[in-house]
Amino acid sequence: EFHLHPKDARLQSAGYFGTFDRQQVQRGFQVYKEVCAACHSLKYVSFRDLEEIGYSEAEVKAIATQWVIEQPSVNPETGEAATRKNVPSDRFPSPFANEVAARAANNNALPPDLSLMTKARHDGSNYVYSLVGPDAYRPQPAELLKKFPDAKTPNGLHYNPYFANLNIAMPPPLTADGQVTYADGTKATREQMARDVSAFLTWTAEPKLEKRHAAGFASVIFIAIFCFLAWGAYQNVWRDVK
Ligand code: HEM
Repeated sequence: EFHLHPKDARLQSAGYFGTFDRQQVQRGFQVYKEVCAACHSLKYVSFRDLEEIGYSEAEVKAIATQWVIEQPSVNPETGEAATRKNVPSDRFPSPFANEVAARAANNNALPPDLSLMTKARHDGSNYVYSLVGPDAYRPQPAELLKKFPDAKTPNGLHYNPYFANLNIAMPPPLTADGQVTYADGTKATREQMARDVSAFLTWTAEPKLEKRHAAGFASVIFIAIFCFLAWGAYQNVWRDVK
């Protein structure tokens, strides 16, 4: 009763005929880049995939080489772990060297890879929007504590009613309007940033969504016509039979 169902992010990609709003997906990428990438990788997405959402080859190259989190590598001389600059074919790296380092920096929780997050959770696009949206992090309701005193948010965790077990290790990521300055001039309210990053992560999880919707639509039209022809053939074949 305290766990909330995600709110509707009203993304253009939702529904049978949904398509991506490229501008919005680009804004969402900006939010990922400037906020989420400090903790979360996108290990199934490479920099050059950004060309699909409207960045040019030169822009992708610049984004990759200027990416603050470098790619894990080894020093060819000493064999020791090192990092190198990203190139367009690299995947979006994790800022942590390994799971132990990631947990050490996050109160023993592991920031999951976000590539497929909108598919991994129930109602994923709306879930991501709700989880980081402006009303997600809030004080624990008094009734909850009265009913379940043991559910008091432990130190280092944060109450978030959209998260399945209510207390999440992720600190509120979107805390102030204008946290990101959008290249297209859109006002970066907390609401807008949450919506946009959800749009971006919907694209990372299913870049072929538009093609799937178009193919589905074409198939239904085809089947409708086929049914009509089949019915006509049936009438024709049985014409002389009483
Ligand atoms: C978990 C999204 C920024 C640390 C998650 C989850 C999502 C998410 C969807 C999974 C929740 C689940 O398991 O159902 C985002 C988005 C961000 C962002 C969209 C940017 C707007 C950050 C930042 C940090 C962080 C900046 C680190 C300071 C974590 C941690 C978890 C987590 C530690 C694991 C939580 C747990 O299992 O209790 N995040 N995140 N996230 N995130 Fe983030």
